[in-house]
Amino acid sequence: MAAVADSIPRARVAVYPGTFDPITNGHSDLVARAAPLFDRVVVAIADSPGKGPGFSLDDRIALARLALGGLRNVEVRGFDCLLANFVREIGAGVILRGLRAVSDFEYEFQLASMNRHLVPEAETLFLTPAEQYGFISSSLVREIARLDGDVSDFVHPAVQQALRQRWRIRRNDHPQPQ
Ligand code: COA
Repeated sequence: MAAVADSIPRARVAVYPGTFDPITNGHSDLVARAAPLFDRVVVAIADSPGKGPGFSLDDRIALARLALGGLRNVEVRGFDCLLANFVREIGAGVILRGLRAVSDFEYEFQLASMNRHLVPEAETLFLTPAEQYGFISSSLVREIARLDGDVSDFVHPAVQQALRQRWRIRRNDHPQPQ
């Protein structure tokens, strides 16, 4: 299996990095668009301790695997090192990122430029998600779920279930004053 993966030219292997806390339909849409363009797409879930993620790395990996289950050439991996090193380890020639709106651009430009410096053999490519996902973000989804709102249009049912369970447990641990 490793021999097959190693024999794929770099340019046909893409790494799609993010915190995915949790994976949304916007992320999944992007992966579905990328899958036919590459031989192998690695969804790389960053530990991102600085972001104080709501879900553990293991939970984010498990949820992404459930949400992306149907895509043959897509795999989900966690990483807790420099993205540039992970990209080298995978042997990827492409770093994939989503651009939703102009507001994403400045940060993405900085990230792409830094990664070009750190791993010059990989190019950053941007894809745009379908229009209806342009306003979704993981933090908004978490906020809506925390306040008992409906997130079914934005996430896979397994993610919706995980969000519900998470907030039910929290509410039981910290009951609100009546
Ligand atoms: N549809 C909907 N929402 C999307 C989306 C899409 N297609 N693509 C991104 N988003 C949202 C995410 O939900 C997230 O929302 P939130 O911040 O409200 O939770 C936001 O856009 C950006 O998150 P994400 O795409 O997960 O990126 P990130 O900024 O959290 O992750 C890493 C950036 C992981 C790529 C970067 O931090 C990294 O490389 N970390 C590893 C350490 C490292 O190498 N650091 C140096 C980098 S040069």
